[in-house]
Amino acid sequence: MSTADEQKRASALKALEYVEDGMIIGVGTGSTVKHFIDGLGGMKDRIEAAVSSSEQSTAQLKSLGIPVMDLNAAGPLSLYVDGADECDPFNRLIKGGGAALTREKIIAEASAKFVCIIDAAKEVDVLGRFPLPVEVIPMARSLVGRKIVAMGGQPVWREGVTTDNGNWILDVHNLHIVDPLTLERELNQIPGVVTCGLFARRAADVVISAGNVRKNR
Ligand code: A5P
Repeated sequence: MSTADEQKRASALKALEYVEDGMIIGVGTGSTVKHFIDGLGGMKDRIEAAVSSSEQSTAQLKSLGIPVMDLNAAGPLSLYVDGADECDPFNRLIKGGGAALTREKIIAEASAKFVCIIDAAKEVDVLGRFPLPVEVIPMARSLVGRKIVAMGGQPVWREGVTTDNGNWILDVHNLHIVDPLTLERELNQIPGVVTCGLFARRAADVVISAGNVRKNR
């Protein structure tokens, strides 16, 4: 049985097969993506550039000599590769454990294909075991928290963490997310919420778990 990190690496290496010559690649954030960026470094002469979802990934990309482009300059992307904290059988995800959910959601939306790379422990039947991250404008933290309590969730402020966008994160516990699409919409409509970490409206197109491409249900 391979370790979680070996499974993450296997998924990341498999995702390199989706990279085509001349591409500008959308790049996510996290320990799984770190392996992907390492692999990308070995083929940097084949790609044009990357669009990055975090300062952390940007630093790693640049350290390997991969040019990092602004999304506005890059336009629509063909490929986005990112990890996840949980993935259900319909490729719907919880993301944001690394606090990069908003930029990740923007790049996923801009990309024709979203390849999600995970270790097997991230696969769940129903989303919600992993606390759902919600990025909030700082002045709205308490307001958003009260609204979430009224919806049945238990928000916990991730104290000491400021996102790359200058905002805060609430991690919402005790959710059994049977209808991710509706919950994503409802959370995103609360004033002060920048976005929630549910990726249901824009789910992954391909999920690679422990190095294997998963069949879609
Ligand atoms: C970052 O904000 C997240 O969305 C990551 O994609 C997610 O937390 C997965 O991280 P790991 O690859 O480190 O498990």
